[in-house]
Amino acid sequence: MDSPELLSNLLIDETTELRDVLRALDQTGLRIVFVTDASSRLVGAISDGDMRRGLLAGHGLDEPASAVMNKNFITLPESLPESEARAHVSDRITVIPIVDGVGRAQRFVLEKDPEFIPAAEPLLGGNEISYVVDCLSSGWISSQGAYVAAFENAFAKLTGVPVGQAITVSNGTVALQLALAALDVGPGDEVIVPDLTFAATLNAVLHVGASPVIVDVDPIQLTMDPTAVRAAITSRTRAIMPVHLYGQMSDMGKLGEIAREHGLLVIEDAAEALGSRLGSRHAGTLGDAGTFSFFANKLITTGEGGMVVFSDPEVAARARVLRDHGMDTKKRYWHLEAGFNFRLTNLQAAIGLAQLEKVDELLAAKIRLAGSYTERLADLSELIILPEVDPNNVHSFWNFVVLFRDIFAGDVADQMLRFMRARKIDSRRLFYPMHVMPPYANLRRIGDCPNSVSASRTGVAFPASPKLTEKQIDDICKTFRSGIEMLNVKRLSAIGR
Ligand SMILES: Cc1ncc(COP(=O)(O)O)c(C=O)c1O
Repeated sequence: MDSPELLSNLLIDETTELRDVLRALDQTGLRIVFVTDASSRLVGAISDGDMRRGLLAGHGLDEPASAVMNKNFITLPESLPESEARAHVSDRITVIPIVDGVGRAQRFVLEKDPEFIPAAEPLLGGNEISYVVDCLSSGWISSQGAYVAAFENAFAKLTGVPVGQAITVSNGTVALQLALAALDVGPGDEVIVPDLTFAATLNAVLHVGASPVIVDVDPIQLTMDPTAVRAAITSRTRAIMPVHLYGQMSDMGKLGEIAREHGLLVIEDAAEALGSRLGSRHAGTLGDAGTFSFFANKLITTGEGGMVVFSDPEVAARARVLRDHGMDTKKRYWHLEAGFNFRLTNLQAAIGLAQLEKVDELLAAKIRLAGSYTERLADLSELIILPEVDPNNVHSFWNFVVLFRDIFAGDVADQMLRFMRARKIDSRRLFYPMHVMPPYANLRRIGDCPNSVSASRTGVAFPASPKLTEKQIDDICKTFRSGIEMLNVKRLSAIGR
C-alpha cells in the first residue's frame, strides 16, 4: 500500500498534540499512526491502545505525541521484496512501515494487503477491438460512418423507441442540453430539478439559458419528491427533469400526472439508468425526452458519449439538425438554426455497438451484485438503510447505495470511505446537495432539501464493477462491517454508553 494520501495520513510529527493524534487515528481508521522527528525519521508508533493507556495514565490532550508513543515497533528495509514484507504482517501487527537507509518511511505494507477493488471498471472484452479496427481500416473515424446509425438503431430497439428517435451525442451532459434546446426550453423558462444529482443536470439547464428550480428528493429512493415538485410550479415552469439516480426509477406515475395537469414537459435524466424500467417501459422513454451517458463508469461505455431519445419524431428530427450545427440535412452548409457540434464519432459508436451486444449480461451482473450485497448486509438494517425497489420497477443498480441511519453523527460516510479506501476498497460518497455549491446556491429552491443533505452525509456507494467475484463481495462486506464497528463504537462512546 503506497498511496501518498495514506503515507501522509499515517505519519505525524513528534510535537503533534495528542488531540490531533486522536484525529489522525480517526482519519486512517487503521488503529495506528507513526511518529517522526524533525528529520522525518520514524521514532515511534501510537496505536489506539497506546493512546487509551496514555490518557488513563493522566496524559493531557495538549501534550505532544512523544509523551505516549511506543518506541518498540517494527520496520522493514526497502530492499525487501514485497511478498516477503507482506509475510511479516499478522493479525497483531497490521501495518508495517518500509523505511529507507536513514529510517524515513517510504510506504507501508498493510494487513493481508488485498487487491485494489475499483469503484467501477468497463468491460471491454467483446467486439470492441474488431469494430474499432474496422473503423480505422475503413477511414471512417469521425462522426459519419455506419456504426453511428447501427448504434442508434440498436439502442432504439433496446429502449423501445422508434428507429430514428434515438440520437447519439458526445456525452450525457450535452444530451440534456440538446433535449432542452430541441424542445424549445430557454430563457425565461423554469425547469424543476432534484437537489441530489450530478451537476450536469443543472448545468445543462443553465447552458440553454433557463432557470433550474431545486426540489428535495425522497429520503429512501433518493429521487425527486413529487410533493415538492407541485410546490415548485409557477407560471414560468416549462419542464420537470427527474433523475433516475443510481438506476432507481423516479416516481414517473406521479410526476407524469403533475406534468399533464400543468402542461409541462418531462425530460428524464437517465444517465445512470440504462436497463431500468417501469413495467415494460424503459427509463428515458416515459416523458418527452430521455438522456443517457456512456462515460467509462456507466453500464455501457463509449469512453465519452451519450444518447438522447424523443417521443415525438418531429422533435427528434429537429434535434438531429441542432446536433450538427443546425445544418439542413438536405442542403449542405445551409443552416436552419444556430446549432451545436454535439456529434459522437464512428469510433465511439463502434465501441458502443459492441457494448450493447452484452448489455443484458452487464445488467444481470449489476442486479446480481445488488442481490449479493443485500443478502450480506440485511442484518444491519438497524444501522443502515438498504435500497428499496418498487415491485413494478426494474432497478438497474448502476450503483448499490446504502444510507447510514441518523443515529450516526458527523461526516459518517466520509469516515467509512476513508476506512475502506485504506483497505484498498474504492467506494464513493454520494453527490453533494446542489444548493450548497457556489454556482447553484442562489437558484430558486423549495425549502432546505433536508433529505438530500442527509443522504449526501450518510450515503455510501459500494464498488460496482460487473467483474466483482463473490469472494470480493464478501471481502467488501466484511470490511464494511469492521468499519461499522468502528463507527458504532464512536457513536456509543459519544452518547456515553
Ligand atoms: C445524473 C447524471 N446526469 C448527467 C450526467 C452527465 O453525463 P456525462 O458525464 O456523459 O456528460 C451524469 C454523468 O455521470 C449523471 O450521473
